[in-house]
Amino acid sequence: MDLFKNQKDLKSHLKKMLPSVKPVGFVPTMGALHEGHLSLLKESEKMCKTTVSSIFVNPTQFNNAEDFQKYPKTLPDDILMLEENGCDIIFLPSEEEIYPDEQSRQKHFELGYLETILEGKFRPGHFQGVCNVVEKLLNIVEPDFLFLGQKDFQQCLVIRRLLYLMNSKTKLIICPIVREKNGLAKSSRNLRLTDSEKQSAADLHQSLSDIKKHLNPANFPELKKKAVSYLEKNGFKVEYLELAKTKNLELISDYIPRESLILLVAAFLNNVRLIDNLLINP
Ligand code: PAJ
Repeated sequence: MDLFKNQKDLKSHLKKMLPSVKPVGFVPTMGALHEGHLSLLKESEKMCKTTVSSIFVNPTQFNNAEDFQKYPKTLPDDILMLEENGCDIIFLPSEEEIYPDEQSRQKHFELGYLETILEGKFRPGHFQGVCNVVEKLLNIVEPDFLFLGQKDFQQCLVIRRLLYLMNSKTKLIICPIVREKNGLAKSSRNLRLTDSEKQSAADLHQSLSDIKKHLNPANFPELKKKAVSYLEKNGFKVEYLELAKTKNLELISDYIPRESLILLVAAFLNNVRLIDNLLINP
């Protein structure tokens, strides 16, 4: 596995190796790697000749300073995990490498409706920060395939829009959510939960599964009310629990039979913000 900290070196390495490195798959991350991240690497390894992964805890996508400061960092373990899981090239840029000056942090992307709902509404500026860093990374790696997790479903749609805005040829592959045995979606932020909190946190997935099981064309508002009140009794502070069309995240108040829909939730357990989602009629 080759490791680069500097974008010029990485770019010239990839260029030098053309065309034998192609197709190139790219798995961007913020580190604190777990099996969710590894599933993206495995998918890339299956489809691509070369897998590039990046680790960069992107300051511009954190709308909360404490969340940024407390973001888990496990770099030595991460490098080992990447090496053992089929990563060919790792990109580890510094903050100055990605954002050499103030202006380079502030590009604005026209994200429209997607930025006004759910994560966009509760984390103002978050998706602008995601697009700022992902655009730079895509321009450096120029991958044929970009692997993202359904865990951050709204981020997948935002990046799909970014690829469109960039007129990019990169194809987006969305990989399924990897969960703990108890149903909790794997997440770097789970490292901030105690063992008993990890047990409670599984209620989030359980609530979505229960709604999915009982959903009919008229009862989503009632199921949502019950689920939110159950979660709040069990220590969560729910930011949203919504039903939406999968294709564009248009929020809906009633189940539409046979249409591909998605349930999405965000909630704090103590100070840790967790998100999850569940597809219906995928
Ligand atoms: P990060 O949270 O490290 O996630 C990197 C990738 O791993 C994302 O595509 C995310 O959806 C995926 N992932 C996380 N948990 C997963 C799980 N349980 N199952 C499957 N995939 C999972 O998302 C980011 O970093 C950043 O916003 C980034 C895109 C790197 C830009 O900074």
